[in-house]
Amino acid sequence: MRTLAVELGPRRYPVHVGRELPPALLAEVLAGRPAAAVVDARLARRQGPRLDAWLGGLPRLTVPSGEGSKRLVRVERLAGRLLELGLGRDGVLVAAGGGVVGDLAGFLAASYLRGVPFVQLPTTLLAQVDASLGGKTAVHLAGARNALGFFHQPLAVMADLAWLDTLSRRDLRAGLAELVKTMAVADPAWLERLAAAGPALLDPHAPLLEAAVTASCRHKAAVVAADEREDGRRRVLNFGHTLAHALEAAGPRPAWRHGEAVALGMLAALRLGEREGITPPALRRCLTGLFGSLGLPGRLPPDLAAARLLALMDRDKKRRGGRVEFVLLEAWGRPRAGIVVAPSRVAAVLREFGAA
Ligand code: GLY
Repeated sequence: MRTLAVELGPRRYPVHVGRELPPALLAEVLAGRPAAAVVDARLARRQGPRLDAWLGGLPRLTVPSGEGSKRLVRVERLAGRLLELGLGRDGVLVAAGGGVVGDLAGFLAASYLRGVPFVQLPTTLLAQVDASLGGKTAVHLAGARNALGFFHQPLAVMADLAWLDTLSRRDLRAGLAELVKTMAVADPAWLERLAAAGPALLDPHAPLLEAAVTASCRHKAAVVAADEREDGRRRVLNFGHTLAHALEAAGPRPAWRHGEAVALGMLAALRLGEREGITPPALRRCLTGLFGSLGLPGRLPPDLAAARLLALMDRDKKRRGGRVEFVLLEAWGRPRAGIVVAPSRVAAVLREFGAA
């Protein structure tokens, strides 16, 4: 087990990473305080004994898997249950699940009785390398993803790779995309190691994967400590996300995983960078090969028009300071955030990736 820290002064918190972490870690953080857990329903079906080991007799509030749970109506229901349970301001919430449960339980914790602490038990690769760290919490409004939320840092993050044993390959791949993203903007040596490993990363027991998750958490912790509220440096973590957010908002059927959308968003950002004279072509060749070997998508859904994706990026920009901005790479580990590109040039790249 490795223990890192997100250095946020009095709100500093530990991030434990490893396989078969001791559940006593959670008991230590709770320190006898009353608590309740928000638990992903699929996780509850697949990992009952492990959940029992971690949560013991804590009351469990189970939520359906999937983005549909990130709704205010769900927050209202959960808060009602917490009131019934008598959880007071001395209480603590535990989020056991992937990014959806972490975002939802974090939102609930930030708002319940004007805010109670919470602990992240991320159980998907994506949540372990990205979503559980950094305090972003949110729910969706109709037509506006993550439109309501708080920065609310957890008391601790406990990323146990043993949860990944029952994760689908598709969810593993999606998590790998966010892992690659972090290394692409922060760690050239690790990016090369991931590219060399390829499909071997799809084995949740691979020691390389555990080392990569730890390294990714270390990078993310450093970025969050430097820029908690995304006023500057944290923006580089949005590499690939300008297109990904538009793609997710477009609601392709069947739905894409967030990590799948980010993978395609990174390829498109690399191509955009090439056309803008910023990114050497070797970077895209490398990620195209890696994503191909992992089975991550390399093309947009055929029925999606470039104009629609541009309109969705435009709608999103109002929430991001009024400009559609991209993170482009000069090299692995050398991101440039806040790059504005003419819509016609973005559209040309989208068409290269199969948009109508
Ligand atoms: N997922 C990117 C961030 O937490 O800033």
